[in-house]
Amino acid sequence: MAEFALPKNSRVTKGAHYPASNPAAAKGRLKTFKIYRYDPDSGENPRYDSFEVNLDDCGPMVLDALIKMKAEQDSSLTFRRSCREGICGSCSMNIDGKNGLACTTAIEDMKGDIRITPLPHMDVVKDLVPDFTHFYAQYASIKPWLQTVTPEPAGKERLQSPEDRAKLDGLYECILCACCSTSCPSYWWNSDKFLGPAILLQAYRWLADSRDEMTGERLDNLEDPFRLYRCHTIMNCANVCPKGLNPAKAIAEIKKMEAERIL
Ligand code: SF4
Ligand code: SF4
Ligand code: FES
Repeated sequence: MAEFALPKNSRVTKGAHYPASNPAAAKGRLKTFKIYRYDPDSGENPRYDSFEVNLDDCGPMVLDALIKMKAEQDSSLTFRRSCREGICGSCSMNIDGKNGLACTTAIEDMKGDIRITPLPHMDVVKDLVPDFTHFYAQYASIKPWLQTVTPEPAGKERLQSPEDRAKLDGLYECILCACCSTSCPSYWWNSDKFLGPAILLQAYRWLADSRDEMTGERLDNLEDPFRLYRCHTIMNCANVCPKGLNPAKAIAEIKKMEAERIL
C-alpha cells in the first residue's frame, strides 16, 4: 500500500494517550487509533494522540470510531463529516496510508493500530480538516455549470438522448472529496498551477455533455503546459477514488479532444 506524504507543517511528535472508557468490557476488542492533531494557531508542533476504542461498543466504520472518540474522550478532536454514507465527500482523510472516506472504510479491514492524518499535502485548518480554499477556486475556474448560446427551446428543457446521457456515467458521480488530487504526486508538487485529477474529471464532465455549447472555450481554458499536461499517468487517482471513478481516463479524453481539434 502506498504511504502518502503527510500534510504540510509536519514535524509530528508523540501526544496524549486516551484509554478506552471501559477497557474491562472490551473482551480483547480494543483498537488503537493514532490521530494527527494540529492547531496552527497554538504555536505547537503537530502530534499524534492515541485513542483506545472498544470495538464492541462502536459502529463498524472509521467515522463511527472518530465520532465516539470526540463524544467520549476528547471533544476538541476536529474532523468533517455530514452524510455518513459516502455521498457528501466531507469525511475524506488519509487512513493507514491511503486516502479514503472515513464513513465507508471498515475498521475490520485494517490490521494493528490505525493511523489517521488529513489529506496529504494540504494546509491544515485543524486536526483532520484540510483547507479546501484553493481546490474550490480551481473548481470554479472550470465553470462547472451548463453553458449555452442558443435560445432555450420554447416550453421544454434542453433534452438529451439516453446515449448522450450515458456518456456522463463515471463522471457525474464524483463527490469532490479530493482523495484523488491529494494522492497525485504531480498535484503535490504543482498544485498552484496543475488542476489535478478531481477538477479535470469535472472539466471533462462538462466537455462530454451534449447540451453544453462552450466546448471550444473550455478547451482553450485547459490548454496549458501546467493546468492539464502535468498529468503523467501515474494512476494513483484511479487507485484511491472511493466512488470507483477513473480521473486519469477523463484526463486522457481531454488530451485527445485537444489533439483532435489541432489536426
Ligand atoms: S494519472 Fe495523472 S492525475 Fe492521476 S495520479 Fe497520475 S498524474 Fe495524477
Ligand atoms: S474523482 Fe473520486 S476521488 Fe476524485 S474527487 Fe471525485 S469522487 Fe473523490
Ligand atoms: S460523511 Fe459524507 S462522505 Fe463520509
